[in-house]
Amino acid sequence: MNKTAIFYGVLVTVIVLALIISSDLYKLPETKPMYADFVTEQILNPDTTNTYGEDLRVLHGIHSRAQLMDVMNGFTEALGVQCAFCHNINDFASDEKPTKRMARLMIRMVTNIDTHYINQPNWEKVTCFTCHRGKSIPKLVLNK
Ligand code: HEC
Ligand code: HEC
Repeated sequence: MNKTAIFYGVLVTVIVLALIISSDLYKLPETKPMYADFVTEQILNPDTTNTYGEDLRVLHGIHSRAQLMDVMNGFTEALGVQCAFCHNINDFASDEKPTKRMARLMIRMVTNIDTHYINQPNWEKVTCFTCHRGKSIPKLVLNK
C-alpha cells in the first residue's frame, strides 16, 4: 500500500464517521421527564386533582397514563426493579404488596423533603435515586 492509498483510506473513514455522527443513527436517547421533573412541577404548580388512576392517594396532578408511567418508570430505574416488585400486575390499583405501601410512605417523605428542606430553586431535587441508586434497599457502604 502506498501513501496515497493510505491517505484516501483515512479520508473516507473520517467522512463516513462524520456522516454517522451527524445522522440520526448516533442520537443520544432523549431524557424522559421522570420523577424529579414531576416533583419540581408539583412544587411550582401544586395540583391536588387526579383525573387518571383508580386509587392514587399520594401522587397528585396525574392526568394521563403517559404521565403516570413516567413516574412509575422513574421508580423502577431508581430501585432497579420491575413493576411487579410493587404491583400485582393484574390489578395495579391493589395494595396487596407491602412494597407498594412502603413506596407511598417514601413518596410522602421525598415530597416533604423537597418542599420544606432541600428546597432552593437552584438545588438538586431529592428523588428515590438519591438514596436507592439502583437498589431496592439502599446500600450504606459504597462498593459493597
Ligand atoms: C417502588 C414501587 C413501585 C414500582 C416499581 C411501580 N409502581 Fe406503580 N405505583 C406505586 C404506588 C405507590 C402507586 C400508588 C400511588 C398513590 O397512591 O398515589 C402506584 C400506582 C400505579 C398505577 C395506578 C393504579 C391505580 O390506582 O389506578 C399504575 C397503573 C401503576 N402504578 C403502574 C405501574 C407500572 C406499569 C410500573 C412499572 C413500569 C409500576 N407501576 C412500577 C408504586 C410502584
Ligand atoms: C432518604 C433516603 C431514601 C429516599 C429518598 C427513598 N428511600 Fe426508599 N428506602 C430507603 C431505605 C433506607 C430503605 C430500606 C429500609 C429497610 O432497611 O428495610 C428503603 C426502602 C424502600 C422500599 C422497600 C424495599 C424492600 O425491599 O422492602 C421501597 C419500595 C422504597 N424504599 C421505595 C422508594 C421510592 C419509590 C422512593 C422515591 C419516591 C424512595 N424509596 C426514596 C431510603 C430512601
